[in-house]
Amino acid sequence: MAKDIVCSGVRPTGNLHLGNYFGALRNFVRMQDEYDCYFFVADYHSLTTHPTPGSIYNDASAILAAYLAAGLDPERCTIYLQSDLPETAELYLFLNMNAYLGELERVTSFKDKVRQNPNNVNAGLLTYPTLMAADILIHRATRVPVGKDQEQHLEMTRTYAQRFNTMYGSELFPLPQAVGSPAGLVKIPALNGSGKMGKSEGEASTIFLTDEPSVIRKKVMKAKSDSGPTEPNQKKPEEIENLFALLRAVSTEETVRHFDELYNNCTIRYGDLKKQLADDMVAFVEPLRQRIVELRADSEGLRRVMDMGREKAHESAKRTLDEVRRIIGYRH
Ligand code: TRP
Repeated sequence: MAKDIVCSGVRPTGNLHLGNYFGALRNFVRMQDEYDCYFFVADYHSLTTHPTPGSIYNDASAILAAYLAAGLDPERCTIYLQSDLPETAELYLFLNMNAYLGELERVTSFKDKVRQNPNNVNAGLLTYPTLMAADILIHRATRVPVGKDQEQHLEMTRTYAQRFNTMYGSELFPLPQAVGSPAGLVKIPALNGSGKMGKSEGEASTIFLTDEPSVIRKKVMKAKSDSGPTEPNQKKPEEIENLFALLRAVSTEETVRHFDELYNNCTIRYGDLKKQLADDMVAFVEPLRQRIVELRADSEGLRRVMDMGREKAHESAKRTLDEVRRIIGYRH
């Protein structure tokens, strides 16, 4: 039986962090043998915020290196740059003809962007969901590993797929489902006591996969905590729960249990906890960081991976696009 097709992308907004690792990368790595996987760097999507020409390739290379460092293997899955697959842009054009202003304006991420940046409400931002639908439908993917924040976009992908199928009486597009593997639901909080790790909570609250050990130690030691529990078995406030969530991600079960006990009998010293957390985080991140540095230094190697990915992605995209053009009524 044919394997399910998986497709997912990450926007290149600077270096990847631990949240990306536990939320996306680790799942990608686990899926690469079980499914027919297409993982790409969404470097068309990044244009909505007008990056400089010099930063596009650089940021894409950074993501690619992180993908490889985390264990994605270009022989076992397809890893490519979105901009190396212009077929995506053509499918985006076709889908846009049946994407309506009202439904696009109602998308939560669009409304957020309009609120945050009222002076940059461009059409690319509005049609972000159709481009994302094109990414997925170009490979006729059935499973899309994404977080909760992408559910609505995926819902729209299904709408566009169904609309195309209905309009042309075809069964070309399957309706893709979101998948977050159970293990993938590990939420990585920011170090400032609230919210998710990532850009919006600031660099000081985020551990990047490229952070040097001294940087990690500094950030962890400054993480928000409180004055400590006053009664046994007290419920943990958010900032403390967050420290434990980080500990659960990178430390051994024994370590977690140890600090849990100290918390519950009110003898915990957060300085000790943070020192342990910093050690374990360094032990976790440092091998990844070193591999990323090596991979980035080998620009020839990265280029070979990109070329290989482009070839494989193109084969799959061409099969879909030939069908789409034929169905729509273009000469073939
Ligand atoms: N919108 C996704 C994000 O911000 C990135 C993305 C673009 C994507 N195209 C995709 C994810 C296709 C999955 C499938 O995280």
